[in-house]
Parts: sequence; structure tokens; C-alpha cells
Amino acid sequence: MIYFDNAATTPLDPQVRDYMKTLLDEYFGNPSSIHALGRQSKVLIEESRIAVAENLGVNPSEIYFTGSATEGIATAIIGAAKDLKIKHIILSPTEHHAVIHAAELIQQWFGVELIFLNVSPEGHIFPEQVERILKEKSSSLVAVMHANNETGCLQPVLEISEICKKYDALFLSDMVQSWGKTPVDFAAVKPDFTVCSAHKFHGPKGIGFLYVSGDVKITNLIPGGGQERNLRSGTENIHGIAGLSKALDIAFAGLNQNMAHISSLKKSFTDQLKAWCPEMVFHANCDTQGLPNIVLLSFPNRYDTQMLTQMLDMKGMAISNGSACSSGVVSASHVLQAMGVKDNTAAFRFSFSKFNTQDEVNTCMEVLKSLLN
Ligand SMILES: Cc1ncc(COP(=O)(O)O)c(C=O)c1O
Repeated sequence: MIYFDNAATTPLDPQVRDYMKTLLDEYFGNPSSIHALGRQSKVLIEESRIAVAENLGVNPSEIYFTGSATEGIATAIIGAAKDLKIKHIILSPTEHHAVIHAAELIQQWFGVELIFLNVSPEGHIFPEQVERILKEKSSSLVAVMHANNETGCLQPVLEISEICKKYDALFLSDMVQSWGKTPVDFAAVKPDFTVCSAHKFHGPKGIGFLYVSGDVKITNLIPGGGQERNLRSGTENIHGIAGLSKALDIAFAGLNQNMAHISSLKKSFTDQLKAWCPEMVFHANCDTQGLPNIVLLSFPNRYDTQMLTQMLDMKGMAISNGSACSSGVVSASHVLQAMGVKDNTAAFRFSFSKFNTQDEVNTCMEVLKSLLN
């Protein structure tokens, strides 16, 4: 199988797998138990937390392990409404559904006003619009992601963060797609909240973290045993936590090398596509800008791409649709629609990882040509 769906999830790094395998048998004590086996598990969690915090340049007490980024986002957004009494949430319409649906929930539960930002055809929001809104709306949370999961478009999060600080607004920046893919100057951006999901950078599934700035205090969504300093009850996924920390170490250490490799695959792929079909549409300028690993494209109308993802699957190639298809009717995703793309546009996302090769890119091109020509 040629796997070009790495923005959806990535295969486990063998180094992470080997590390986790050694822990699976030995570390079974409940970290809340006071005996030696429990203490051993607790130490593993705290060492993992310190390693994660060092990579981000933050205090370990600001990292909370969660079951997913989705959970971290819900904890932050609902916490902002419930505990910090925000009255407005200002967000990009290109956010992941984890953000949009949590925002809709606090609108319903707490009467928080939802304000969607404008988006350029390339997928960028306009910082000056954020500033204009914040001048009028106090007690706000701004939610703008760093890197978009469909287009790879990078938002000006440093500028947004500075505007939020100026107007005393909270800032949530979803960085799920950024870790290990593109440099993040976290100390400079310093949002109030961010999230991470380990399976996006060759770590295990079902584990992530929520970063909450030490200046902000929110309370849990799920009451219980009080784990994770009372923010996330439930017995900790110790093996997942250790695997996340290991995967993040590897991702940070290899960032430059992996970016160079993945960028060269992306360039080769887009160059070959352009040579074959000059009218190919790359959404969000994603052949030249943004994350090095994501290409979102649409074919000109003369190609019949209705079943392309399924046909590639039959040829042993995994990619994603950047559009939804129900009862044979294609509709552009909410991200593309926000960028002003016609809502019957079929789009396809190819996303690479450090484990992909130039041979795979060449094979993919040959298969695409044979299927569509
Ligand atoms: C940008 C972004 N945010 C949040 C999520 C949610 O991550 P998870 O499904 O691991 O909770 C994803 C996953 O696709 C994502 O790409």
C-alpha cells in the first residue's frame, strides 16, 4: 500500500513501537496507587510530561494529557465559557470540526456569541478583522488554527496572538497538524490553549495533550478521580503518554531533515502534476506555501474524478477526499466553501510523511495518468 493520507493519521514509528513494547508488560501499576508499581507508572507519566514541556519550552504543569486533541479542544472551549465566562468566540470557518462543533455547543449551552471570520481564497484570515472585532467585543476567545488539515494553509498566529494580548482576549490555536511538520515558535506565539494528537506524527492513537497557559484556570469536563491535576479524570493511558512523548522527541529532533525530505516529495509531485496537466488547481496555493506535507488539488472538468479515491484504493493507494460525497453528489468541504470554492468542486488531498519515497510519488503519478487519461 502506498500511503499518502498522513494528514489523517500516520503509521507508528518503529522506535516508538519498540519503546512502548518494553513498557506494556512492565508498567501496569495504576499511577494513583501508592505502591512501587503505581509509583513507577506515575514517574513515567511525569517524565513524559517534562519531556513534552521541554520540547515546547513551557512549564510541565501547563501540559495535561488527554485522550485526543478533540477532547483537549472541548475542554478548553467549554472551560472558557463555563469558568472564564467568555461571551464571544471568534473563529475561522476553516477550523477543524472539533473547534466548530464545540463552539456551537457553548453557543447553545451558555449563549456565547459565535463570530466567524472572513477567509481569503487562499484560506487566510485577516488579523485586522480580528482586531476590529476585539475592539468592540470584550470577554472573547479567539480560535485560529496554526496549520489547516485539508489545505496545509498556515495562519498568522503570531500576529493574532499579539492582537489577543492587546485586547485581553483568550487565544486557542489548534496546532495538531503543525507538530513535527513545520517549526512552531511556541514561546513567541504563547497561546492560552493549544492541543496535540500523537497519531499525527507517528505516535500512538488515543492520546494527546492540552496545553493550558499557567495564567489561565479552567476546570474539568468529566468529574472523577481527579487525575491530571483534576482537569482530566480517568486512569491515565500511561503507555500512550510515554509513546506520545517519545514520538514528539523524534519529531522535533528530525524536523529539519524530515521537512527537507517531505518538501522534495511534494515539489516533485506537484511539478509532475503541472507538467502533465497545467490547469490543475492547487487549493490555498498549497503547492508553494503552507505545510510541506499537504497537497489539496482539483482536476479540470475534462477528467472524470468522481470515483478517483476509490479507484486509487483499488490500486493500493490511500489518499483522502477534500470533499464529501453523499448519494453521488460531490460537495466541497466546509474549509473549501469558506475559501469561496464552488460547492460542487471535487478535491483530493495527498499528504506525505517521512516514510514516503520518491519511487512512491513516481508510481502514484503513473497510476493517476493511467486512470485518468
Ligand atoms: C487540525 C486538527 N485539529 C483537531 C483534530 C482532531 O484530532 P483527533 O481526532 O486526534 O482528536 C485533527 C484531526 O484530524 C486535526 O487535523
